[in-house]
Amino acid sequence: MLLFIMRCVTLVFAVILIGCTSDAQDAVKAQPIYDANPSHLWNRVHAAQLCRVGPDGKTYGEDRLEPLLWMHSEHLLRGKSFEDAIAVLDEFDREGGESLIEAPLKKAILQRDLWLVANWLTQKPDTEEKQRLQTALAKVIRRLALSSEQIEKLPDSYAMAVAAKVVSSRFDAAQPERSYLPTQLFDAEGPWVCIGRSDGLIAPQHLREDSSSPFTNSVFLILLKLPAGRAATLEFLLQLESFDQPYLIANPNEKSRRSIPLLPNAALPIWPKGSEVALVRRAMLIDSKGKIVASPITESIQLRVMRTETPVPSSAMFNIEKARGNWAFFEFQFRRTDLLGPSPIGLRDVSADRDFKTGFMSHPSDGFDEAPQPTKPFPLGSQPFDNNRASCIGCHQLPGLYSFNSLAGFQFGRLQISRDKSAREIGPFQFKAASLPEIEAAAVQWKETQASWKRFGALANR
Ligand code: HEC
Repeated sequence: MLLFIMRCVTLVFAVILIGCTSDAQDAVKAQPIYDANPSHLWNRVHAAQLCRVGPDGKTYGEDRLEPLLWMHSEHLLRGKSFEDAIAVLDEFDREGGESLIEAPLKKAILQRDLWLVANWLTQKPDTEEKQRLQTALAKVIRRLALSSEQIEKLPDSYAMAVAAKVVSSRFDAAQPERSYLPTQLFDAEGPWVCIGRSDGLIAPQHLREDSSSPFTNSVFLILLKLPAGRAATLEFLLQLESFDQPYLIANPNEKSRRSIPLLPNAALPIWPKGSEVALVRRAMLIDSKGKIVASPITESIQLRVMRTETPVPSSAMFNIEKARGNWAFFEFQFRRTDLLGPSPIGLRDVSADRDFKTGFMSHPSDGFDEAPQPTKPFPLGSQPFDNNRASCIGCHQLPGLYSFNSLAGFQFGRLQISRDKSAREIGPFQFKAASLPEIEAAAVQWKETQASWKRFGALANR
């Protein structure tokens, strides 16, 4: 009997031990991003903030665009994850962890990641744990800060990706899912026109701090390329600006009017087949003076290429099956292992990858604690789309310009007007060609006025 009890006790201990070590190892096992030694302080800081162990015992989040944190997440704010996060940040601060690694790019990436976590925290209710974590993050973020001159000299992951020539630079209409990354995106006189607004921020939805995204420390750029080149694209912007009719009109078809009350005005200038449009996201950093600075690090590029001519607007455009042929969608994201490794490729095509949905317009529930699709096993239940590409059509199903979500009234694949505006008041739009520095300055200025920065900036500046 005694032997039996002892065996049981040993078994229980063994289970506890395996559980802990697999947990602890999983957290530390995270890919050695900053140093070959997985227990290097920087790797441990990275793992404690970004890695999560799923109900299946596997580690996730080692090297993805954003932390695995959602609006309702309690992760990092209680229990072991909180204690681990604080312990390793305090160790970094105590030991002066910044001196362990010199490379400015590594400092920039770690600071960016910690700031994303801190930005998410600003939207959480005030608690003692939040306060402690925020303060600990702010100290390390300050220690990692580069001078604005160093930030300016950081490499651009997009330029790296173009130079690496891993994927084709041309869209292939015969193989619309074949990876391609256009060149010359940021060339001031090249075929791509960077779009600015004289009446506000570009990509305001991606930067909305309320329920839109917890990760708003980025500059977004929108770039457009009509097949006939720069002059044609500039001409299109002028036509759009001088368009003096309503953008949306009442659906003339009585039968479909109930479900689709509005249609785009057929007189709007259109994008021809083959038009390409890009949404580029670049990292903001906090410099050694505590100021927000736009960095050259490209975090992601989303691309759409028009595969059809623009039809005369009708309710048929809203048929989702028909809409599948309208666009080719792509998404490129940076990966730390690529960027910091020996042969950097800068950006990776993640269009066909299945992933969790975080950040912009994601579900608020924490994908590790409460799957948005609970009938499916983890991680599938927490990954709402078959792949990244499959997510795009939900908001960009309409053909051509009618999917240009930057036009208020055309957003999210629905045509709608806000309650305080009539269709006639939508437009004209103040779009104009802009330079990269202009867009960066506007985004930084915007961020400085946001609640997240008002709350966290004071700590990061101290
Ligand atoms: C939840 C809705 C949503 C999803 C899903 C979505 N987008 Fe968008 N997208 C938007 C909105 C809204 C804008 C307008 C910019 C803003 O205001 O932030 C936009 C802007 C863009 C732009 C810039 C041109 C424009 O339309 O304004 C591109 C390019 C783009 N998205 C590509 C993609 C790709 C590729 C995917 C899939 C990987 C995707 N989007 C998924 C909502 C979405």
